[in-house]
Amino acid sequence: MKSTFLFILLTASCALADKILLGYFPNWLGSSYPVSKINLSKYTHINYAFAEMAKGDVPEWPDKSVVDVQLPQLVKAAHAKKTKVLISIGGWSGSRTFSTMVSSSSRRKKFINWQISQIKKYNIDGIDIDWEYPGTQGQGCNVVNLNSDTSNFLKLLKELRTSLDTTFGAKKKEITIATHVNTFVNAAGNMKNVSAFAKVLDRINIMTYDINGAWGANTGPNAPFNYQPGEGSISFVSSIQTWLDAGVPANKLVAGIAFYGRATTAKQNMLITKYQYQPQITGKPAQGDSLDGPWKDLSCPADSGDRTGIWRYEKIRSQGLLSSPTKAVSPWVRTWDSVSQTPWLFNPKTNTYLTYDDPASIAVKVNHTLCKKLGGLMVWSVEQDSSNGELLNAAYSVRTKSKPSVCPY
Ligand SMILES: *[C@@H]1O[C@H](CO)[C@@H](O)[C@H](O)[C@H]1NC(C)=O
Ligand SMILES: *[C@@H]1O[C@H](CO)[C@@H](O)[C@H](O)[C@H]1NC(C)=O
Ligand SMILES: *[C@@H]1O[C@H](CO)[C@@H](O)[C@H](O)[C@H]1NC(C)=O
Repeated sequence: MKSTFLFILLTASCALADKILLGYFPNWLGSSYPVSKINLSKYTHINYAFAEMAKGDVPEWPDKSVVDVQLPQLVKAAHAKKTKVLISIGGWSGSRTFSTMVSSSSRRKKFINWQISQIKKYNIDGIDIDWEYPGTQGQGCNVVNLNSDTSNFLKLLKELRTSLDTTFGAKKKEITIATHVNTFVNAAGNMKNVSAFAKVLDRINIMTYDINGAWGANTGPNAPFNYQPGEGSISFVSSIQTWLDAGVPANKLVAGIAFYGRATTAKQNMLITKYQYQPQITGKPAQGDSLDGPWKDLSCPADSGDRTGIWRYEKIRSQGLLSSPTKAVSPWVRTWDSVSQTPWLFNPKTNTYLTYDDPASIAVKVNHTLCKKLGGLMVWSVEQDSSNGELLNAAYSVRTKSKPSVCPY
């Protein structure tokens, strides 16, 4: 009797391995999105983003007065729910001086000492590094060294691991990174073996989105589950496989989910064929939601300053493009693409194409995450969900469901 009971208990707890559900929380939202709006019971981790590598070897918080109020609030509320808080360093416009900083041991030491001081000051649970991207230009103002960025980055991560373990106790603080859909690049190309990185990291968060956008010749999904043969070669499935094949253990891999979409302008009425890949006006996103720019980063002349075409899911709902998760409001027409497993909206009056994720597309990604026994899911970003939490509810099932009985890949 007793042993049967124990057996049942054990198998039940094995079926639901603790999955990560990580949400990025940008620190520039101000009072428009207070900490109290984040459902911290659903997330296991919040990454507070970003402290930026703007100049020199040490990150800078964009608005320190906000951080000093908001970060303690976040840490207190999160810890009350056993949710961890990491600070995230870098980001698209905050990766300028990583390359210089990692290039010398004394510079790396300054960077690491800053991390230790922030962990102590704010009682945070670790450091997330979002260098976009080692060995490759990102925003246009980054220092780049193709020959040494990646190997120096590994040196930094090893030294950071040693320092955090020495200061706070072995494995007490987490170190994670956010990465591109492809593995790191060096002079020989994309790395085939990144197991040395995986060894010192708690997790690698893959940005499995921004795969198509206004930069391409054709319209296409922001975050395809599978790519359409002949229309690209990168998808949620393929990039997870790329990182697994490069030696990252599945439980250290966390796949990304976009709570936002992207709008572009097609050159024709896409509803005639309903094919998701059709010629578009390249290099010029359509107007995004009511918060869209143009926004020019004045500190980076290479920044295009264009509008982004970004539509937060919250705005897709609240600006009335959808009246329910699956029902478009005229003139918008919703189409589901069964290859990319994503919905898209089209406005035939303006030829605006809008690719985004919804609860149905997220459910597909949740299943694959469970099938591949990944560490869990990462979300960019928490405030972009509808006010009733439609996307977070869908993503949360990664923590409550067990591995599907049928796994197609
Ligand atoms: C937050 O999530 C928990 C767990 O799913 C749920 O029980 C609770 O109702 C949610 N809170 C809010 C305010 O939505
Ligand atoms: C990958 O690199 C690690 C050392 O970082 C090495 O131990 C391992 O054998 C390599 N794997 C392959 C498949 O080459
Ligand atoms: C996910 O897996 C569950 C359990 O196997 C299944 O019932 C469900 O239909 C799947 N959902 C999707 C969107 O594939």
